[in-house]
Amino acid sequence: MIAPSILSFDHSDLRSPVIELAAAGAKIIHLDVMDGQFVPPITIGDGVAKGLRKLGDFLLEAHLMTNTPERHFEAFAEAGCGRIIFHIEATNHAHRLAQSLKGMGIGAGIAINPGTPAHAVESVLDVVDEVLVMTVNPGWGGQEFIESAMAKVAWVRERAPTVLIEVDGGIDEETLPMAKRHGANLFVVGSRLTKGPSIGEAFRRLSALCG
Ligand code: DX5
Ligand code: ZN
Repeated sequence: MIAPSILSFDHSDLRSPVIELAAAGAKIIHLDVMDGQFVPPITIGDGVAKGLRKLGDFLLEAHLMTNTPERHFEAFAEAGCGRIIFHIEATNHAHRLAQSLKGMGIGAGIAINPGTPAHAVESVLDVVDEVLVMTVNPGWGGQEFIESAMAKVAWVRERAPTVLIEVDGGIDEETLPMAKRHGANLFVVGSRLTKGPSIGEAFRRLSALCG
């Protein structure tokens, strides 16, 4: 399944692309939340999540690229996010944080940077719904796909046959099938959606590749 990211759209009008994506059949909207600390840029907060929540019945997932991610769980849950993804590099207590999300009735995802070895997430595989393997360094859209992350996808898939594996960064018509072959089943797509022929059509073309 495709999880469209809103990062590359015009932030003065996030409403229009989200409505277009919902009409094209998007079941997930991916929100890239950056705090200016864990990664240099600052993007959006729970207020934006709350506003977008009203635009369709998709699952809103918050990808927290923040330090102290647990400080933001409640706000994003209250804003209507059904899944919260935080980084293994941002906490010493990933197992407890995943458990606390589950306790709140929220889907839990653990994200892992290109520079972090796969075994860093091994001990949380039984408490998360999803592993998000970064296929670019987090912080910016439009970067080149890092192919060496595919070994990490395969490593996780071997150990957790039923976990969702999401890949994030540089996903397009070429890289999506590659990530799928290695075991990914959820594909974040950002800047490719802005490259035409239209957001809806780009979404449909990529969705067709998911199978
Ligand atoms: C990067 C974000 C991604 C980003 C992907 O830090 O986590 O979700 O929007 O953008 P593209 O698809 O352009 O690489
Ligand atoms: Zn993301």
